[in-house]
Amino acid sequence: GEALNGKFLETPKKIDEESLEDGVRGGFNGRLAFAIAASALGSSFQHGYNTGVLNNPQKIIEQWINVTMVDRYGEAPSQEGVILVFSLMVAIFCVGGMIGGAITGLIAEKFGRKGGLLLNNVLVLAAVICMSSSKAAASYELIILGRFLIGINSGLNAGLAPMYLAEISPVNLRGAVGTVYQLVITISILIAQIVSLRSILGTEDHWPTLLALTIIPAIFQVVTLPFCPESPKYLLLSRGRDLDAQKSLSWLRGTLAVHEEMDGMRAEYDAMKLVPRVTMRELVTNSALRIPLIISLTVMVAQQLSGINAVMFFSSQIFKMAGLNDENSTYATLGMGGINVLMTIVSLVLVEKAGRKTLLLLGFGGMTIDTLLLTICMLFAAQSTAMGIICVILVLVYVIMFASGPGSIPWFLVSELFNQSARPTASSLAVCTNWTANFLVGLAFLPLAKLLDAYVFLIFVVLQALFFLFIYKKVPETKNKSLEEISAMFRQQSYQ
Ligand code: GLC
Repeated sequence: GEALNGKFLETPKKIDEESLEDGVRGGFNGRLAFAIAASALGSSFQHGYNTGVLNNPQKIIEQWINVTMVDRYGEAPSQEGVILVFSLMVAIFCVGGMIGGAITGLIAEKFGRKGGLLLNNVLVLAAVICMSSSKAAASYELIILGRFLIGINSGLNAGLAPMYLAEISPVNLRGAVGTVYQLVITISILIAQIVSLRSILGTEDHWPTLLALTIIPAIFQVVTLPFCPESPKYLLLSRGRDLDAQKSLSWLRGTLAVHEEMDGMRAEYDAMKLVPRVTMRELVTNSALRIPLIISLTVMVAQQLSGINAVMFFSSQIFKMAGLNDENSTYATLGMGGINVLMTIVSLVLVEKAGRKTLLLLGFGGMTIDTLLLTICMLFAAQSTAMGIICVILVLVYVIMFASGPGSIPWFLVSELFNQSARPTASSLAVCTNWTANFLVGLAFLPLAKLLDAYVFLIFVVLQALFFLFIYKKVPETKNKSLEEISAMFRQQSYQ
């Protein structure tokens, strides 16, 4: 509340030379790092961990559903019935994500970015209560409800956290800071893959604990984020609180010398006062906004329809298709999770040097070729061990390509392509689109794989190639451009 607000709003009194220099250069400092950690660790952990957590314990939870149904109805359910309940548990997470994504804009404007993130932890608490009491209450409905709630939470996080990160970063670090959101997702998917192993928490007794662990990052956020300032852009541009915005910016940059950056924001504020807040309808009808909207939505769809979550959710199955046994496919899955993290770190460094567009092209181009080779090798995997190994390598290379740019860039690109007045609405649409596409891939992959066998990957090859072309033709480079410059660019284009 107010007391905490007072605390962070105190401007730094003693400013040493070094931090002053950093501030002028718009560089990195300890406080910015703290704000990044406080906002990203707590939020994207929910998104990643709950994406990965049900993968390993599938069999165990299915058995429990079976037993619960026998107890309740006095007869054994059909296998299809059990699988349906489990699939619902998995899929409803994305339905929650769609809803959370859709209300991002509303929450971000009403409560602020920081305020929205903090409030969102109420949903984590509710979800964890449902999921961890499900076994004792003999109710799989509670898991479904809990997964729905944590899905809403994750959808909101996927909008709020990248928005906060983009709005607190200096322009030369915006891509790197934005990538932190995806980095934490990949780390938390890996953590989920590890703690859900049979030798750790993936057992008959401990799976409720496994689902409850997701409360830990929420606690971390509730303890740390109150010490960080609200986004300076939100304070000035959405609330008209000039002095608070300046204090927030000084806190984040570790210097009082923030005049230049403040002037840039004030100029945007003055321009915005003349133009009312952008509505959904205007986003679609005004061509200066429609072009960035189409780009934002397409890269979100591209990220998901690249097929990444077919690999994240069903890697064990894919590795088995390639001829690996149970144990080896678990190891391969862990290796894949590790490579995803490492490559995301590499992309964090590359994104400010190579630029967004180059990395997106590299990623989608690489995935197209790789997935084509994978399809061919899969057809022969059953016949030779060597082919099987090549398939595993190709899956790993696929993840490397995905993580080079397509994994991280879509999350922050939408915040870069719009100015303050359109950003919340555009984020809502983009995040909701991402989760919808995620939901569809999760739903369609296994039935399609059953129908088409290895040819299923050809669908992704075609889509990846199309997205490559779209990015090549339409996506502008946003590296090192201020958010104001970027929206001016789209305004000019629409005049041509
Ligand atoms: C991106 C995707 C997410 C996927 C993850 C894998 O964050 O949005 O769905 O699970 O990358 O690294």
